[in-house]
Amino acid sequence: MAGIDDILALAPVIPVLVIDRVEDARPIAEALVAGGLPALEVTLRTPVALDAIQAMNAVPGAVVGAGTVLDPGQLAAARDAGAEFVVSPGLTERLGVAARDSGLPFLPGVATAGEIMRARDLGFSRLKFFPAEAAGGIKALKGLAAIFGGVRFCPTGGITQDNAQTWLDLPAVVCVGGSWLVPAGEPLDRAAIRARAEAAAGLRRV
Ligand code: 3PG
Repeated sequence: MAGIDDILALAPVIPVLVIDRVEDARPIAEALVAGGLPALEVTLRTPVALDAIQAMNAVPGAVVGAGTVLDPGQLAAARDAGAEFVVSPGLTERLGVAARDSGLPFLPGVATAGEIMRARDLGFSRLKFFPAEAAGGIKALKGLAAIFGGVRFCPTGGITQDNAQTWLDLPAVVCVGGSWLVPAGEPLDRAAIRARAEAAAGLRRV
């Protein structure tokens, strides 16, 4: 099984997906993978999210994870649906222990030094900096990264094609996440999704 470093290395951007119609799941995944973004985060925020994970898993090359995982029950449901990695907006001890026990690659969310320390205590050093822009932006992450040498981040929250490169230029940033590739509520437009994915896949990492 791949580790979290393998997942984060797949592309400079992980699309954060809110899927409302399960029939859109497969074409969205196909367009994103074709555009060069294989790691896909399906948020557990809609009733069809687990079915969407299953549908996307059938797309060759897609590496599908579950996002917005809040507790051990949701982690187990995501694993059963075939999620290959798990992302959470924050971290509780219960969720951290369950993630560790599951063996699934796990990217917990943090926004402060204390939260990073708790994540390290639980054995996690690849973290989602969330909500990145609102939690202090690049200045805040630079300050945190200077303290926690071995920690690497995937900033998410307020990141767009226009500001992603500035984040990716930080040595502590391995990739970024964002919902701009498939804006919520937009009617399915495969060509537009693929074009956005291609632009995102062209971003550089240091
Ligand atoms: C997430 O779940 O990571 C965020 O909702 C993504 O934030 P964004 O919509 O600002 O990209």
